[in-house]
Amino acid sequence: MVAEMNISAKSQHSIDLEDKYGAHNYHPLPVVLEKGEGVFVWDVDGKRYYDFLSAYSAVNQGHCHPKITKTLIEQSQKLALTSRAFHNNVLGEYEKFITSLFGFDKVLPMNTGAEGVETALKLARKWGYEKKGVTENSAKIIVCEGNFHGRTISIVSASTDPDAKQNFGPFTPGYITIPYNDTTALSEALKDNTVVGFLVEPIQGEAGVFVPNDGYLKTCAEMCKQANVLFIADEVQTGIARTGKMLACDHENVKPDILILGKALSGGMYPVSAVFANDEIMLCIKPGQHGSTYGGNPLGCKIAISAMEVVVDEKLAENAQLLGDLLRSELRNIKSDRITTVRGKGLLNAIIIKEKDGITAWEVCLRLAENGLLAKPTHGDIIRFAPPLVITKEQILECAAIIKNTILSF
Ligand SMILES: Cc1ncc(COP(=O)(O)O)c(C=O)c1O
Repeated sequence: MVAEMNISAKSQHSIDLEDKYGAHNYHPLPVVLEKGEGVFVWDVDGKRYYDFLSAYSAVNQGHCHPKITKTLIEQSQKLALTSRAFHNNVLGEYEKFITSLFGFDKVLPMNTGAEGVETALKLARKWGYEKKGVTENSAKIIVCEGNFHGRTISIVSASTDPDAKQNFGPFTPGYITIPYNDTTALSEALKDNTVVGFLVEPIQGEAGVFVPNDGYLKTCAEMCKQANVLFIADEVQTGIARTGKMLACDHENVKPDILILGKALSGGMYPVSAVFANDEIMLCIKPGQHGSTYGGNPLGCKIAISAMEVVVDEKLAENAQLLGDLLRSELRNIKSDRITTVRGKGLLNAIIIKEKDGITAWEVCLRLAENGLLAKPTHGDIIRFAPPLVITKEQILECAAIIKNTILSF
């Protein structure tokens, strides 16, 4: 029997409002949330769930972390936004803090992940023309099949997902697409001397948590260096302790030329993204050439400092590493032919569900929700498991049991 969820009148009311007045650009699970704390969220009827999505890895520090909430309240009562027409007394403090944390000369603050990626693309092109000497308007960026870097026109131009592209053209030119996890293809593409950057996710998150071979990032970074091409790591989803290190690139001791962060940079409290590079690259952008009204606002900057202090102080990378190993081993022990694959790194994980008797990943997610755990299918048959990194060993074991019982209940 196909699983269905009981939806209360209260929940249905909120769902109906969204349906009638909001654009239909998402297909959410029929759960209406009103409260969050740590690894838990509660719906409007008071039912408690484990959050196993963490707002696509934005809430690594847990929902409504008290330290980050306190910072939000205090700074919002002092000064929230100045624009960059004037200086503010927090931006410099944040820039010093965050560049020393990640080891770069400079940061360019933006708000969303997509804006961070756009910034990196612009920066790479500018560097290509002004430092590498590429002929104007001919710069190319190498991207990977299956990538997800956001939703703007220039970014979807680099996508291979038909849903992301269909009827959104004409597209931005200047991309070369190669298969992911394929260094031979990269080597071939790097022969084009108009290439200025290679934009890559250290693990492809939205595509379904594709973990490349060990050594892939290191080899790619070395090949880029040889070819005088910028290695651009999109760590919007993989960064900030999610995979068991502060950055997924840290697993291979790779330092990108351009690093993009977003999401958990603010612990899910406020949109904050950042692009990092050393002076040689970053100073190619001059006053008036790029920016954002909200980018670098004192509220976002203060929140990001607190959010990153939480990651370091609470040793979230170590926790993600340890509990990720435990979660995967528990999932691999589930004796069911419905699960064909378990994969991931740290607490960025996925299982693949084999459709059987009309039960797909969607039905599994509905029943998981009934059983108190929220996860969302991606690409039809993949379910991502990415809880807040403040989760404990006991909670991971409880969640693994919920997943096991749910799978075995069909
Ligand atoms: C790797 C990656 N880059 C960029 C983005 C876009 O971030 P945002 O949704 O904040 O624009 C995402 C979002 O899921 C992502 O996973």
